[in-house]
Amino acid sequence: MSKRVAIIGAGPSGLAQLRAFQSAKEKGADIPDIVCFEKQSDWGGLWNYTWRTGLDEHGEAVHCSMYRYLWSNGPKEGLEFADYSFEEHFGRPIASYPPRAVLWDYIKGRVEKSGVRSWIRFNSPVRHVAYDEHEGMFHVTVKDHDKEVEYTEEFDHVIVASGHFSTPNVPEYPGFDQFNGRVLHAHDFRDAMEFKDKNILIIGTSYSAEDIGSQCWKYGARSITVSHRTAPMGYKWPDNWEEVPLLKKVDKNTATFIDGKQKEIDAIILCTGYIHFFPFMAENLKLKTNNRLYPVNLYNGVVWEHNPKLMYLAMQDQWYTFNMFDAQAWYARDVILGRLDVPSQAEMHEDIDKWRAAEDAIPDDYAAIEFQGQYTMDLMALTDYPPFDTKESNQAFFEWKKHKKENIMTFRDHGHKSALTGSVAPAHHTPWKDALDDSLESYLQT
Ligand SMILES: Cc1cc2nc3c(=O)[nH]c(=O)nc-3n(C[C@H](O)[C@H](O)[C@H](O)COP(=O)(O)OP(=O)(O)OC[C@H]3O[C@@H](n4cnc5c(N)ncnc54)[C@H](O)[C@@H]3O)c2cc1C
Ligand SMILES: NC(=O)c1ccc[n+]([C@@H]2O[C@H](COP(=O)([O-])OP(=O)(O)OC[C@H]3O[C@@H](n4cnc5c(N)ncnc54)[C@H](OP(=O)(O)O)[C@@H]3O)[C@@H](O)[C@H]2O)c1
Repeated sequence: MSKRVAIIGAGPSGLAQLRAFQSAKEKGADIPDIVCFEKQSDWGGLWNYTWRTGLDEHGEAVHCSMYRYLWSNGPKEGLEFADYSFEEHFGRPIASYPPRAVLWDYIKGRVEKSGVRSWIRFNSPVRHVAYDEHEGMFHVTVKDHDKEVEYTEEFDHVIVASGHFSTPNVPEYPGFDQFNGRVLHAHDFRDAMEFKDKNILIIGTSYSAEDIGSQCWKYGARSITVSHRTAPMGYKWPDNWEEVPLLKKVDKNTATFIDGKQKEIDAIILCTGYIHFFPFMAENLKLKTNNRLYPVNLYNGVVWEHNPKLMYLAMQDQWYTFNMFDAQAWYARDVILGRLDVPSQAEMHEDIDKWRAAEDAIPDDYAAIEFQGQYTMDLMALTDYPPFDTKESNQAFFEWKKHKKENIMTFRDHGHKSALTGSVAPAHHTPWKDALDDSLESYLQT
């Protein structure tokens, strides 16, 4: 096949795309020439931890938003690859909430086995993607940091898999410029030990707020105050943890909230989310969306409706992750291989509108999980990706939510059932709050 496909990013979604093409090749299909551009020196995306913040060794924006001691915040049974179970990778059932290093090992295991590393050009940030209507080709401009050159190549298809949890959303509050402590975004948080014995103020109430606050509590912060814009998280927090209304201003080390309450604080961590940011895409190809389950302009959540030769992976807000990325990647592959057709733009648009209206009618998190489970099932049904029943994995998410309500500091001590193997995960050898070593070796000890 003479077609060429560019994949931007070798994180979990870009790697899913490589695995999708490799599995077709393994079954005898004629596949295009695949080039994956990765700006970092290794694969794994966010799971490839670095201590760096700000700019990297090449002056590129650091991609990593993960931090030391990060454990999965949802059950691994909700993200398991349908063609590569945890049990196959680790040789036995393991507990349900692995730390980052364990999940990185799992992600790498499948692609190491399938031998696709040579399809990736590392240290190669994509600088610009434009579509030439006349030629019907994409022009992809890339910086090669190893050779210190910038070059442009032509591709028939482009798949953007560059993630959307790396460019921070950074609001400012009055008095930040006079504050006597550190103000940072979750993107730059690396080690909870920095905040031992400190009074920290967190702004935001979603997963970063909950998890970074819990890390700081676990590693010895003196107090945690969480300020909400919309509503408090409402868990049963430890005694030195308080939820307060939105921050009004800071003055030296005093924070004042909109109800007039004041607190002395040493550091402020903005857990205020991320923006979808694609500076390298030409304006007419750029996805512009907030963080939601069904972003605009993407048919089946993947195909750019204005030009179906362009695709975006994993741009949804995420309950399901790795297995949903797989379902998307297998689908994208089959559209590119001509095994699946896409309808007219008007029909795609109508279909997208239908899904978005259904998303807008979702009453709660439980229904949101079911929505994304159904979306993943629908995609799986279109390809030869091994199907699994997302009703089983929805169940793991439902139990997870129940456990969090019961005790936010012990939910990770529970085990869930794999929809693939039917095994129920064993309890981890140490309760999460006492397990200070997050290494793979420590986690896998029996
Ligand atoms: C703090 C944090 C914790 C999380 N924890 C969990 C969890 O516990 N469980 C879970 O399932 N999910 C979690 N997630 C969600 C996460 O989004 C997914 O797990 C997953 O990493 C998304 O994969 P991705 O490949 O789409 O994006 P990423 O993992 O972001 O990978 C994108 C890749 O694209 C590369 N790239 C970006 N721009 C360019 C460019 N211009 N040129 C070339 N390469 C480029 C990057 O270097 C990176 O390697 C977490 C997210 C965050 C921020
Ligand atoms: N251990 C882990 O696995 C782990 C840890 C951290 C993060 N994550 C993942 O990382 C991803 C991103 O999560 P996230 O929590 O960073 O982002 P998020 O889910 O998008 O949440 C953003 C939060 O910021 C608040 N916010 C935004 N702008 C604000 C402003 N100007 N002032 C006050 N509050 C503001 C929002 O409040 P409103 O509700 O008012 O809009 C919301 O609470 C998720 O997929 C999550 O699962 C995982």
